[in-house]
Amino acid sequence: MTTTKETLLKKLNDRTAKVGVMGLGYVGLPLIQAYIRAGFTAIGYDVDAKKVDSLNAGSSYIEHIPSQWISDWVKSGKFSATSDMNRLSDADAILICVPTPLNESRDPDLYYVEESVKLIAKTLRKGQLVVLESTTYPGTTRDVMLPILDKAGLTVGEDYFLAYSPEREDPGNADYSSAGIPKLVGGYDAASAEVAVALYEKAIVKIIPVSSCEVAEAAKVVENTYRSVNIAMVNELKIIFDKMGIDVWEVINAAKTKPFGFQAFFPGPGLGGHCIPIDPFYLSWVARKYSLQTRFIELAGEINIGMPKWVVQKVLFALNKQKKALNGSRILILGLAYKPDVDDCRESPSFVLWEQLESYGAKVDYHDPHCPSAPKMREHPQFAGIKSVAISPEVIKQYDCVLIATDHKKVDYKMVVENAKIIVDSRNAIEKFFGASDKVVKA
Ligand SMILES: NC(=O)c1ccc[n+]([C@@H]2O[C@H](COP(=O)([O-])OP(=O)(O)OC[C@H]3O[C@@H](n4cnc5c(N)ncnc54)[C@H](O)[C@@H]3O)[C@@H](O)[C@H]2O)c1
Repeated sequence: MTTTKETLLKKLNDRTAKVGVMGLGYVGLPLIQAYIRAGFTAIGYDVDAKKVDSLNAGSSYIEHIPSQWISDWVKSGKFSATSDMNRLSDADAILICVPTPLNESRDPDLYYVEESVKLIAKTLRKGQLVVLESTTYPGTTRDVMLPILDKAGLTVGEDYFLAYSPEREDPGNADYSSAGIPKLVGGYDAASAEVAVALYEKAIVKIIPVSSCEVAEAAKVVENTYRSVNIAMVNELKIIFDKMGIDVWEVINAAKTKPFGFQAFFPGPGLGGHCIPIDPFYLSWVARKYSLQTRFIELAGEINIGMPKWVVQKVLFALNKQKKALNGSRILILGLAYKPDVDDCRESPSFVLWEQLESYGAKVDYHDPHCPSAPKMREHPQFAGIKSVAISPEVIKQYDCVLIATDHKKVDYKMVVENAKIIVDSRNAIEKFFGASDKVVKA
């Protein structure tokens, strides 16, 4: 007699399995692309009906994900989006890509994961594989997801399969697509691991199976903690070297010529994005349950959160050089997104800079070629809907100081240098894209 696992493996191997993706955002959409390219049919589920309508109409709402992809998927009949969860019962594999933020007390907020899993449990049937891709703390798949799924009355590893496979997508990175990044897979049990590997190896360049969900969960948090800690280190060094009259960017570029033992990280105005400022605190939270502290994470958080203040001091200094006060000065922030060449503003330090500068009485505008209007941010709702200022020589001349917060390639830095009174550069953008200028105060 053919087992449920064998039936599912056959569907995965002959690509007749239907792949369901829950959460159609920065992670979910590239994953769908990977599966459609690998010859599967995909169904996307999102609670946001506007996103569902937009996708079914062949239109993307994320700048670096072309509408052409979406309309090709829809036209080929290989993809449809829905906000009707019952349709996901058709899917043989369900990949969960929903947000995992922090709550107001900076503890993990698993609301979206729990809600997704509750919906899956309602229609869970024999022969389905459920995989969590959202970043979280070790133990989530086993301790949070499994008890909810158990309510469906099926047996994990026999009737249905459960795994964790962290997403490593790097939006805006032209060198790596979802399909091109090696993927960790941790199954709840041996059968779940086998099925999950069979699913991912069809679409992703390389699969690295690990011995448990917990190892895969921990590895993802370690990857992002490593970045947070290293960024904090160079942010701290930036302040020290600044006092010593040494350019930290030159130092890092020199150090990175060592072919081993050093990986370059660069300083900036603070941390942004949905991952690096948040994920390490998932680990801190779980460590506290073991009465342990994550001192590196706390220290890195403290240093990175303090960076906007340092940058604002540099703006004060730059204006002071021109015998001007911050109060009443006009400041143009270049870059609202948290990193170059994307439209994602989540957790962006630009909003903190904006708020701090205004608190000193500055009149602040922003320009961002990727973010035509400021999105609504939970912590900075006052900026929602404010429009990006179009820049030209005449416009740049009107500002007392231009503050570079994000180094988007699309900005004409030559024009900015030629027309700005003074520039505070927290990304070393002018040197990178234009060259040295005595109008620049590095921050
Ligand atoms: N963005 C990145 O660069 C990146 C990289 C690696 C990992 N991750 C992780 O991936 C996860 C998703 O991140 P993202 O950037 O794609 O988020 P996102 O906000 O872009 O997308 C999440 C989507 O989930 C939807 N959603 C919320 N609750 C839902 C539910 N119950 N059912 C179905 N859909 C629901 C939202 O409407 C949204 O469209 C997070 O855990 C994040 O940490 C993100």
